[in-house]
Amino acid sequence: MLDNITVAQADPILSLSAACRADQRSQKIDLGIGVYRDHHGNTPVVQAIKIAEQCLLDKQTTKAYVGLSGNESFNESMINFLIADGNSKSRAVGVQTPGASGALRILADVINLSTPGATIWLSDLSYANHAPIMTAAGLKVRYFRYFDTDTKLVNSEGMIADLKQAGSKDVVLLHGCCHNPTGADLGFEDWKTITKLAQKQGFLPFIDMAYQGFGSSMQEDVQGFRYLAEQVESYVVTYSCSKNFGLYRERTGLAIVVGKTLEQSLAIKSRLLEIARGTYTMPPDHGAALVDIILRDDSLTDNWLSEVESMRQRVKGLRTQLVNVLREKSGNSVFDFIAQHQGMFSVLGISSEQVKALSEQHGIYIVGGGRVNMAGLQESQIDYFADSLLAVS
Ligand code: LMR
Repeated sequence: MLDNITVAQADPILSLSAACRADQRSQKIDLGIGVYRDHHGNTPVVQAIKIAEQCLLDKQTTKAYVGLSGNESFNESMINFLIADGNSKSRAVGVQTPGASGALRILADVINLSTPGATIWLSDLSYANHAPIMTAAGLKVRYFRYFDTDTKLVNSEGMIADLKQAGSKDVVLLHGCCHNPTGADLGFEDWKTITKLAQKQGFLPFIDMAYQGFGSSMQEDVQGFRYLAEQVESYVVTYSCSKNFGLYRERTGLAIVVGKTLEQSLAIKSRLLEIARGTYTMPPDHGAALVDIILRDDSLTDNWLSEVESMRQRVKGLRTQLVNVLREKSGNSVFDFIAQHQGMFSVLGISSEQVKALSEQHGIYIVGGGRVNMAGLQESQIDYFADSLLAVS
């Protein structure tokens, strides 16, 4: 027993932080895992979260269990925040999960329960943990064309041509906004076309919303999703509070199910809870309790929204500064696309040898496939990063 276990491969994202920490060079830069860092390289606790924490400390009277679906008040607040006054809200149910990864897994499990071995279509490229989670749940993964390696934007034509093959027993996973890893987002027209395809072909849209507020604005980032949500008969969502509430380690996420009827949604929810009970039982409470306090208080919500706005503006500013410096140093506009990308990440279109050279020769850690966490860069590092990138290009 246990003799045949071999060492697992290191996680392509999480292993980078450890590698960077172990690097003794003073100019090293960790642009791997998706966390926001300020001018000093810190990831501060969001101010509204600090206030909500004080409030929770004062008011909380027990640490007794909450329940399999976590904090139902949080589930309701999040559904109200995301779907707002959309009609599909009347059929929506939520389950709080340990981060959005937990939501990805339990939704994948319930899809596999309904249609064993169903195919889930992922964008090429997609978040490094999507395929492992889906495969572990028993689903088959297929890819649709997405990232155009020439323009570094979305290959809409290729995407639509591929999605025409997705059938009524298939699932199509879409990034709600701020595509991870590429930074290339669907346009509103793309959302409309995909919505039509979902209606015609009957596939289930699966929206992964992990960066709301880091793209154009809190409202604009969900415009495409909300359009789709109003037209299709069912969809599922995974939502992460890690980035926009800065709750990373608190593992605060949500799975939303919108079935054809509320009755169907509730039946699916009962299965999600059964799956949760068979794995982690219930999610950690702290982060969800804080989000709920914020979303139920107008002034705290405003406070939170303006902090997300300033994080977004700062990352946009970093993109522009980097593009300008790269232009100046290289004399060309090869990297201009970085300013067109949305959210925390950009895929630079460099080879794995160049990614390796960045870490080995320059102490700069980015994810394999060339994903750079723009939100982790500091103003003072732009020059060195640009020099290093051009040196390996
Ligand atoms: C990332 O993509 O860097 C984050 O979502 C962290 C993670 O869990 O992979």
